[in-house]
Amino acid sequence: MEALLEVKNLKTQFHTEAGLVKAVDDVSYRLYENEIVGLVGESGCGKSVSQFSVMQLISTPPGKIVGGNIIFEGHDLLKFEANGPEMRSIRGAKIAMIYQEPMTALNPVLTLCRQLTEALELHLRMDAKASRKRAVEMLELVGIPSANKRVDDYPYQFSGGMRQRVVIAMALCCNPRLIIADEPTTSLDVTTQAQLLELIKDMVKNFKATLVIVTHNLGVVARYAQRIYVMYAGRIIEAGTTKEIFRQPLHPYTVGLLKCIPRLNQNKKEKLVPIIGMPPRLVNRPLTCAFLPRCSCSLERCKQDTWPPLTEIDNEHYVSCYACTREEPSGLNTK
Ligand SMILES: Nc1ncnc2c1ncn2[C@@H]1O[C@H](COP(=O)(O)OP(=O)(O)OP(=O)(O)O)[C@@H](O)[C@H]1O
Ligand SMILES: [Mg+2]
Repeated sequence: MEALLEVKNLKTQFHTEAGLVKAVDDVSYRLYENEIVGLVGESGCGKSVSQFSVMQLISTPPGKIVGGNIIFEGHDLLKFEANGPEMRSIRGAKIAMIYQEPMTALNPVLTLCRQLTEALELHLRMDAKASRKRAVEMLELVGIPSANKRVDDYPYQFSGGMRQRVVIAMALCCNPRLIIADEPTTSLDVTTQAQLLELIKDMVKNFKATLVIVTHNLGVVARYAQRIYVMYAGRIIEAGTTKEIFRQPLHPYTVGLLKCIPRLNQNKKEKLVPIIGMPPRLVNRPLTCAFLPRCSCSLERCKQDTWPPLTEIDNEHYVSCYACTREEPSGLNTK
């Protein structure tokens, strides 16, 4: 099957006073049409930077995409200038983003109508009347009451949850092929979070788009994503179907992440187990596996060799771990 988006060996780095930060270090992944994929990992592991790289929204300097390919609709997006016409016609039109904080995407001094119609006029070449009609329709679709009146309001006149609905409408208004939702609901209360995730899922399905949900919440991906990529310290360390990753997580980090999710039917005796240690600092990171200082299953080899390559263990289930890929059973998952 041909991928909608293929990221190959992406490397994005930041030059900081403390040293070189390899925020995204040789990351490869694929997204197919009409699927929902989860990108998970602890804070600071490179989830957002990897997605901003796809949109070429890395501030240079201090950041720079130093290698890789991002193939979308047959073109390598990295061959295009970040602010050139090609990227401008893709960003917000074919690939759209829903950010954690709605005001990142909304302009406080423009009415919703102006913001929505601007995108429609630019990307879909609609005239003023048609674009206003479409803007109202989009606001209705995301559940804004009295959309035909509220379209003339400013973002501050909406609550946080409503603003995020507006952002969802903006993201989908030009019928993009790919939506990147980066922690789309974390700043909101739990009930609103659940409603908005349902809304995003339904909208993406109706618009026949592909969705990447970026989150540190495995509960969210379990519910919505068909496939998962797990990131750690700038790399993908495990990938597979959601079913398979929950049934048999391989990487000790993924095993740890799964033990941290509270379950409704949790036995009182079963405690949530935090992953010991701190996430690694990405500045001047050693070449060995970044999980080594926190790993309870490490081998001698892990201390000497460079970071293990992502290797297919089972059908479409990949892991980057010497202990998981050695010949004899590692017993990792029984711990
Ligand atoms: N503008 C910048 N300058 C320097 N370093 C940066 C910059 N932006 C990101 N980084 C570094 O890149 C790394 C990855 O950051 P990123 O924002 O992708 O993490 P994340 O996985 O999205 O975390 P979170 O879950 O907190 O959103 C971090 O170490 C961060 O400090
Ligand atoms: Mg982030």
